[in-house]
Amino acid sequence: MVLIAPSMLSADFSCLKDEVKALAMAGADWIHLDVMDGHFVENLTFGPMVIKSIRPYTNLPFDVHLMVDNPSKMIPWFVNAGADIITIHAEACKHLDRAVELIKSYGKKAGVSLNPSTPETVLEYVADKLDLVLVMSVNPGFGGQSFNPLMIEKIAKIKTMFKGKKALIEVDGGINALTAAECKAAGADVLVAGSAVFANGDYKKNIEALR
Ligand code: DX5
Ligand code: ZN
Repeated sequence: MVLIAPSMLSADFSCLKDEVKALAMAGADWIHLDVMDGHFVENLTFGPMVIKSIRPYTNLPFDVHLMVDNPSKMIPWFVNAGADIITIHAEACKHLDRAVELIKSYGKKAGVSLNPSTPETVLEYVADKLDLVLVMSVNPGFGGQSFNPLMIEKIAKIKTMFKGKKALIEVDGGINALTAAECKAAGADVLVAGSAVFANGDYKKNIEALR
């Protein structure tokens, strides 16, 4: 069993509430929301006001992926917007442990994401606190990039490292039916997919193909 978290980055931004409803109908497990600030990554997407505006249209967990510098400042904004899981990048935090504690202090699930070049060892001393580890399998910033095959080894290492711990392993970037199977075999629990879910408009078929 693997959970599928479609990324709203590939949705039609002119009708986000309809897209969220369609994804729920199509069998999505979580809604993945890519927040980009134009600093940490070279792209600018949406913020808490947009997330709050679509929150009433589904009960699915909102999985908020913060690709922003200094995420601690913004964590309360996304709590207020209705996030269930808040994931921050290890590379964006001077005080990762404190930022994780901040997310948890609001009763939200805390995730840490790693860019492809960041070793999993940075998670060692926060591992017990995490609900989610987000392995980036592309350099963050854009949808539609190709999967970095070296991340299969990284997923397997994280799986071993997190044995007996509660954190789920989520993989994000370049997921299609082929890479999904490899990630699952290496130990992934949740797969984020943008282009593969939204391609040709049959969300249900696409989600089933990934699963
Ligand atoms: C990339 C984002 C991803 C992205 C995935 O920076 O974090 O969530 O939307 O898109 P695909 O599935 O097209 O690689
Ligand atoms: Zn993402």
